[in-house]
Amino acid sequence: MTHDADADARGWKPLPQDPESGGAKVVTIDGPAGSGKSTVSRTLAMRLGWQYVTTGAIYRTLALMLHEAGASFADKGSVERFVAFLSERYRQDSRSGRVYLGEREVTHEIRTPFVSEQASIVAQDELVRRKLLPVQRKVVLDCNGAVVDGRDMGTVVFPDAALKVFLTASPEERARRRADEIRASGREVDAQSLLKEIHERDARDAGREVAPMKAADDAVIIDSSVLAREDVVKKILKLCIDQGLVPLANPGES
Ligand code: DC
Repeated sequence: MTHDADADARGWKPLPQDPESGGAKVVTIDGPAGSGKSTVSRTLAMRLGWQYVTTGAIYRTLALMLHEAGASFADKGSVERFVAFLSERYRQDSRSGRVYLGEREVTHEIRTPFVSEQASIVAQDELVRRKLLPVQRKVVLDCNGAVVDGRDMGTVVFPDAALKVFLTASPEERARRRADEIRASGREVDAQSLLKEIHERDARDAGREVAPMKAADDAVIIDSSVLAREDVVKKILKLCIDQGLVPLANPGES
């Protein structure tokens, strides 16, 4: 069975994407950790005047909740309870990228190396992915247009998206970027262990049975290894114009 057929068989049907019918216009940006997809997606959303949704933050928040409760993702009751809670109280601020669970801000807590690893582990679970599917779609329902980033946006969550991009970069380049970020925040970096973590996370995200990270058949693949972020944004904006998603006057302006 193909992956999309597999998604249908599970009842993970796509939402209507036709703006005429009230569905949001969706651009999906999938790719591995460190490919630059969050910066690119947020910049793109700002220029389009659309919502920016980073679905990794939803997996991260669930991982944080499970960890704080001392529960495992294998505990189905906890997963169902926490996802129901997430569905009601989870909020992402499109402009700042801040993440809230009810009144509590969890922006920084969900970005620790520990939660990054836990999120990647939790995301392998079939029940977790199935339960989080409507949560991810719901965020987009409330807006006119959205740029969503993740691993399976184009293949499973929004298979009918107007435009799909798979943004990638070599593991070495991604490790280098991450090392620069860490150094910029005044901390020490072990470059070798960073590269090892990237390889491990890629293997887990791309190798899992359910909704593995991969480019959709109709995705445009962009390798950002040798491209500046701004050039990646411009490339995608051009694709948006070509797809008739934006009037020619708007794009390119910050
Ligand atoms: O994009 P990110 O690094 O914040 O994502 C954190 C983890 O969540 C990542 O290792 C894989 C998982 N994830 C996923 O499986 N599917 C998504 N759509 C988004 C993230």
